[in-house]
Amino acid sequence: MDEKQRVQEIKELLRRYDYEYYVLAQPSVDDYTYDMLMKELEAIEAAHPELITADSPTQRVSGQPVKSFETVVHSRPMLSLSNTYNQNELADFDRRVRENLPPGSYVEYVAELKIDGVAISLLYEQGMLVRAVTRGDGIQGDDITANVKTIRSVPLRVATDVSLPKNFEVRGEVYLPKQSFEAINRKRQEEEEALFANPRNAAAGSLKLQDARLVVQRKLALFAYYLLTDAEEELKPSHVDNLNWLKEMGFPVNPYFRLCRSLAEAFEFINEWEVKRPDLPYEIDGVVIKVNTLAQQKILGATAKSPRWAIAYKFKAEQVETLLRKVVWQVGRTGAVTPVAELEPVALAGTTVSRATLHNPDEIERKDIREGDTVVIEKGGDIIPKIIRVQLENRPTGSRPLAIPSKCPSCGQPLTRMEEEAALRCSNPNCPEQVMRRIEHFAGRNAMDIEGLGTALVEALVEKGLLKTAADIYFLHKEELAALERMGDKSADNVLAGIEKSKEQPLHRLIFALGIPFIGATASKMLSKTFHSVWALSRAKQEELEAVEGIGAKMAESIRTWFANPLNQALINKLEHAGLQLEEESNDMDRPLPFAGKTFVITGTLPRMSRSEATEWIETLGGKVSSSVSSKTDFVLAGENAGSKLDKARKLGVVVVGLKELEEKVNAKEE
Ligand code: IVH
Repeated sequence: MDEKQRVQEIKELLRRYDYEYYVLAQPSVDDYTYDMLMKELEAIEAAHPELITADSPTQRVSGQPVKSFETVVHSRPMLSLSNTYNQNELADFDRRVRENLPPGSYVEYVAELKIDGVAISLLYEQGMLVRAVTRGDGIQGDDITANVKTIRSVPLRVATDVSLPKNFEVRGEVYLPKQSFEAINRKRQEEEEALFANPRNAAAGSLKLQDARLVVQRKLALFAYYLLTDAEEELKPSHVDNLNWLKEMGFPVNPYFRLCRSLAEAFEFINEWEVKRPDLPYEIDGVVIKVNTLAQQKILGATAKSPRWAIAYKFKAEQVETLLRKVVWQVGRTGAVTPVAELEPVALAGTTVSRATLHNPDEIERKDIREGDTVVIEKGGDIIPKIIRVQLENRPTGSRPLAIPSKCPSCGQPLTRMEEEAALRCSNPNCPEQVMRRIEHFAGRNAMDIEGLGTALVEALVEKGLLKTAADIYFLHKEELAALERMGDKSADNVLAGIEKSKEQPLHRLIFALGIPFIGATASKMLSKTFHSVWALSRAKQEELEAVEGIGAKMAESIRTWFANPLNQALINKLEHAGLQLEEESNDMDRPLPFAGKTFVITGTLPRMSRSEATEWIETLGGKVSSSVSSKTDFVLAGENAGSKLDKARKLGVVVVGLKELEEKVNAKEE
């Protein structure tokens, strides 16, 4: 068999395995078999780039990061649906449908789950995916083809053994399974990045990432629900037929759609799913009811915004009642004092809830929230549930409005309220609670990562007066530590070792550890790369700061305010005195060098890079490039028409890699 045939064969196999795994959830081969086929395909494609096609499974993650997406006008507008929240409105919809159809028409509906994701349009020509576009404003959207290709359940080419319309468009919903959503947020929490409020926001954010290599990690998925063609007569006569056709073509179609012969059957479907909703592995926010017959859909037509043949029945957000035991006022590391409701634990939308945010004093007054109240809570767009209202009829007699503190619950100093701010603030820099939270942050996992110096120890040290600022950490004595409760000689030694080790942390961690309001881990990395030192950062002007990618006006302002504070200047001086690295020699300092100590030999013609470019690339990643293969060679990077060097590598058992494979290795390491 020649290479071309083999490529064809492997592509077919991998396409089938992807389909079985990602669409049917019934894999027929193990990962190893799959990986070996993928490797073989990559190797052949590396040697014969002319055999690479856009629908090759190796091309799911490809292309360079983009700065912006191209705008594309939809061939037919992507309409949205009108919403209803109760069954009467649904009965109105049914009446309107019947009024607009010839008298006595027999109407069937299809009930589908309304997936809480992002609408997408997929264009196929001759069975090949040529473009994927976001809904945008319904008239035009963004071309996000490279990102959508990373979704393994999206066919790059549809099944070849079914009859197909020549060119067609598939619309559907890209969504994040609950599990992937939680994993993403866990990671973001660890990195102290803003959490996504819900899977839909996370899906939308993921599709707009500018680098497909990042999108692939997000584990997005698709459900197709709409087939369109230019020549309408190509379509099947009913929506259900078209859904089944989409399935045959290899598209993932949600399995729970149901043909309903009456409105009553549609109600049944809705009631059923309102209950079963929490058991699904993805979020739904309602049910979509569609007229089944396409001929009837055509008669009904659409308004400017939505089709008259379909409607969305939206579920209400789940709500529960519980007792508000107590309101506590928390002092954060920046001095903001926020009220938090402690609740009688209660199950809500899949988790047990025992706290709710109350945001600020205005919110408490507006809703007249009091301790001892029965409150209705729901998880809205936020992670932490909120209190919707108080059940006044259950309010205990003698209850009193909550007192808004005028003094800091930690240090007793008067609290202030800025004009434009709703929040209460403690402006005492020595407030013990603030000091604890600041030092806890400084020593935390994503900051200086000081082993052994956790919350409890920080609190004990602050209470004893041994820590007043984060810099004091570096002047602790063994006897002081060992004298604390539940601390022996050995634990004291361990903590000191952890403290000593943290002095070597890279600059970006130190910047993050300073706890400048609004400056998270990612922003700190960008600042470190740009300024290379805390001193340079402290002198940076507003425009210089704003010129850094990801730093906006508010963040820049916050940095300047922070450094202008003499207490913070003193902190930095003391940190330097303690021996911390406040500068990095160059921005290359903490760049990972995945090829450090490795010797490469390049042979053949590489795709996309000249030899000298490849050499430079390898060298910047810490590797060495030599001209001849020997037993000391670690890798041979082989391109097209590789000759004797490749043979020699094989003879010596040296690992042979393609450029793509090597790039993937680097990316995998950088994560
Ligand atoms: S049909 C013309 N079916 O809900 C028909 N939409 O405002 C258009 N959605 O933008 C949509 N699940 O993003 C349809 N089974 C489903 C759906 C669904 C989710 C989304 C879609 C649309 C929005 C309606």
